[in-house]
Amino acid sequence: MATAAIGKALDPRQKSSMAQDFENALRSKIVGQESAVEKVAAMYQVYLAGLNPPNRPIGNLLFLGPTGSGKTRVVEAVAETLYGDARALVKIDCAEFQHSHEIAKLIGSPPGYLGHRETHPILTQEALNQWHTDSCKISLVLLDEIEKASDALWQLLLGVLDKATLTLGDNRRVDMSQCMIFMTSNLGAVEMGGLVEGGIGFTPQALGRELENLEKRMESTALDAARRRFSPEFLNRIDHTVVFEPLAEQQLRAILDMELDRVQERVLAAGHASFLFHLSEPAKDFLLREGVDRRYGARHLKRSVERHLVQPLASLVASGQVHQGDSIAVDFAASAVGEECTMSFSRDETGAAIPAPPEVRAMPATAGVTIAASARPLKRKAENK
Ligand SMILES: Nc1ncnc2c1ncn2[C@@H]1O[C@H](COP(=O)(O)OP(=O)(O)O)[C@@H](O)[C@H]1O
Ligand SMILES: [Mg+2]
Repeated sequence: MATAAIGKALDPRQKSSMAQDFENALRSKIVGQESAVEKVAAMYQVYLAGLNPPNRPIGNLLFLGPTGSGKTRVVEAVAETLYGDARALVKIDCAEFQHSHEIAKLIGSPPGYLGHRETHPILTQEALNQWHTDSCKISLVLLDEIEKASDALWQLLLGVLDKATLTLGDNRRVDMSQCMIFMTSNLGAVEMGGLVEGGIGFTPQALGRELENLEKRMESTALDAARRRFSPEFLNRIDHTVVFEPLAEQQLRAILDMELDRVQERVLAAGHASFLFHLSEPAKDFLLREGVDRRYGARHLKRSVERHLVQPLASLVASGQVHQGDSIAVDFAASAVGEECTMSFSRDETGAAIPAPPEVRAMPATAGVTIAASARPLKRKAENK
């Protein structure tokens, strides 16, 4: 009976299955940074319930914290989860808008101005809505490195964050009430790094309470830096500020595993020679050593994977040493010196890992054959930031 339900306690922590799926998908793409995942998932839940405030963006989030800790990645992961593509967002690199006149690139210039017809503003309604589907009408906007924005961009942004409308150079109105707006900044990251013994990228040996204290101190350090730099007007328009934590060694390892999975997917999708590869622990250690700069978190990890794994694999495929169905063991070749590639590659004794498609004939059994590590030595390029 309907009346029997009177007084029944309701549980607001319970999530809809869509929101739960969304959160799980994000968790599978993001290592750590619980707080960021939770805040984004909560925002999505509000959107699903249709309770996001009218005439405001769905949500305005500010991400603070060290470089290479996943701030940008979280937004890409949201795009992947909602639209199956990490590029399904409008990204505004604030460093490109440090001069007020550059704002025309965003909103276009007024009619009559020189070059008016040539400017194609970034922030049009079409650009914002281009990824919408029948089931999802969220536009993702990422303002990266917000502390570099010019005053003109700030003015524009204050209006958007508050009223969710934008007027283009030619007076067209853009409705931004379906936007999730993410802003990132590494303000305070240097000071945060100073708190972590050994610098950013590795959390200290400290355990339990000490670690908790450290996290609190890091958070307040980042928030203080934001308060010093950003006006109260701006901060008042932010729904949530999330401070990203420096990644611990274990977390970087997990990120490396994710990157390796992505490379494997690329190999299989490329269709030249579908083979599997497997890295030994020393090989992973090597990639982590090469790819982690304390100041840049996980940022170099991808580059290290490209240089020491993807490029040699490409050479092996191109030179016909790796074939359809092979299983390739990748190890760390400690003996290699100088500019030479320091990974060694060999075909697994276990033989074919993937059944060859009918048109490809089975390879002669060459189990356990070691393949020349790299057809050409890899030049070590100077790291850029
Ligand atoms: N927490 C994380 N989870 C998963 N991948 C991450 C994480 N942090 C960094 N990465 C990896 O490092 C790369 C650089 O991180 P990014 O999000 O661009 O850092 P930033 O915090 O400077 O925006 C990402 O593309 C991703 O591959
Ligand atoms: Mg970033």
